Amino acid sequence: MNIAVLSDIHGNHIALRECLNFLESKDIDAYCFLGDYTGEFPGIEETMKMLYDLRDSHTCYFLRGNKENYQIDELGEDYPEWDAYPSTIGILRYAHKHLTKEDVEFFNSLPITMRNTASATGP
Ligand SMILES: [Fe+2]
Repeated sequence: MNIAVLSDIHGNHIALRECLNFLESKDIDAYCFLGDYTGEFPGIEETMKMLYDLRDSHTCYFLRGNKENYQIDELGEDYPEWDAYPSTIGILRYAHKHLTKEDVEFFNSLPITMRNTASATGP
């Protein structure tokens, strides 16, 4: 069984596209994503669309990273103490404004660990 493990996309949809294009030529049985779908890059919507499209066509396992926790906890304007870290909080707030309610619900549904295949999503 060939499993592709990807992590820390951080909103870099261009790199994700390159990775998925590369993996398309391989005989991948399942994709495992270790979290941090949003982060330091602005391609939030594109990243989420690619993940949902992949989930619809392949067996995928998704874990929740700390970046998803920040979005679930709405770490946005209500946390002025994070203003001391302007680049970090800036992109978190940017991501928060570009995520849909469904994206946050998806993050909230994700486990932080996984031991078996019961949580797989896909066709
Ligand atoms: Fe990360």
